[in-house]
Amino acid sequence: MKIAMVGSGYVGLVSGACFADFGHDVVCIDKDPAKIESLKAGIMPIYEPGLAELVGSNVKAGRLSFTTDLAEGIAGASAIFIAVGTPSRRGDGHADLSFVYAVAAEVGEHLRQEAVIVTKSTVPVGTGDEVERILTEANPGVRFAVASNPEFLREGAAIGDFKHPDRIVIGTDEEWARQVMTEVYRPLFLNKSPILFTSRRSSELIKYAANAFLAVKITFINEMADLCEKVGADVQDVSRGIGMDNRIGPKFLHAGPGYGGSCFPKDTLALLKTAEDYEAPTRIVEAVVKVNDARKRAMGRKVIEALGGAEEARGKRVALLGLTFKPNTDDMRDSPSIAIAQTLQDAGVEVAAYDPEGMDLAKPLMPGVEMCANAYGAIEGADAVTIVTEWDAFRALDFARIKTLAKAPVLVDLRNIYDPAEVRAKGFTYVSVGRP
Ligand code: UDX
Repeated sequence: MKIAMVGSGYVGLVSGACFADFGHDVVCIDKDPAKIESLKAGIMPIYEPGLAELVGSNVKAGRLSFTTDLAEGIAGASAIFIAVGTPSRRGDGHADLSFVYAVAAEVGEHLRQEAVIVTKSTVPVGTGDEVERILTEANPGVRFAVASNPEFLREGAAIGDFKHPDRIVIGTDEEWARQVMTEVYRPLFLNKSPILFTSRRSSELIKYAANAFLAVKITFINEMADLCEKVGADVQDVSRGIGMDNRIGPKFLHAGPGYGGSCFPKDTLALLKTAEDYEAPTRIVEAVVKVNDARKRAMGRKVIEALGGAEEARGKRVALLGLTFKPNTDDMRDSPSIAIAQTLQDAGVEVAAYDPEGMDLAKPLMPGVEMCANAYGAIEGADAVTIVTEWDAFRALDFARIKTLAKAPVLVDLRNIYDPAEVRAKGFTYVSVGRP
């Protein structure tokens, strides 16, 4: 089956490469000629483990190609995916749908064969209706259907998530479109990944509801962590204790500096806007957004506390280890590290930082932060070392070396990757999240 993927960003590229790997004939389309040229040369525009290899092998097998020409790319495709960005619109938090609608109009203009147009981009409820209206207006003269098929890919684990999903959600009311989509996902279906067919609107909402629920879960455990610190309990035990209840489940209960990334911050805001527009306010999500925003700066203040308070902290130096919003990505969008660095700088603290993949993107977002070549470069001369992102490379730090390089043996572990007793036994002052 021929599949066209319009938009070769994170979601489009991973999905396109995985569909090709299933044996489909895939064309990835993007307006950006530089991106297409580098993809043709085997250079990935993003860092995602395994992606370069997957793209390379499928290009070599002749199943995956790239073009800037939408008309040529969609010719003969039975499924045309829209996987362009839906950033937060400046000012109001609504998802900006101009890219999605522009693609719909262009597809409408060039479509010459029967096809299902599938929105993979995260789009508010009702977007599919508008895409259908735009296509109908373009009157391509062939049968088409508009379906919704949200992605649930985690950065850093996107290929695994695509190939072994908990579920595939497809929103369409048309039987023939269901059949096409079943064909598209047949390799996964045979692997027993469940396909949930719903209406288009339900499918669109499932994506937002899933992300909002996960954001609630994280924020809930973060607030429990704060409470643990006050009452002398251990949030890891609390998390384990509640997670063993099957109704709650153990995942996304890891306390930390707050969620960031390209999805949760943007999608929770967009859900709030939809809820407001339809006069069905989601107050829990409103609270989660506020609590998570405030938490990032609070983590900066936690580091200042570890330096001995605001007065003591002025003029001191802090090493930040990890800048990306989570490990195994170079993505800096809404990363807690940005607010943490800013809070420290506002308090007159000098900040040095190291991240295995994120420094190029971090640099312009963190003016005045000294970017170092490695972790120990950042640690040299620091009055406190702070782990912001749990990269594997920081899980076995050389504590003896830190002691010789740093001015003081102070470790602030915002991801709880170390055992408090062990670190303290090495002579460190150790501060973590929600643990006595
Ligand atoms: C998320 C969703 O998981 C994915 O299904 C969706 O399609 C896109 O958004 P992603 O943003 O890549 O994926 O990252 P994820 O692994 O979900 O983490 C998001 C943020 O939450 C990170 O900042 C992470 O550090 C934080 N987090 C996650 C926690 O603080 N605690 C947890 O227990 C889990």
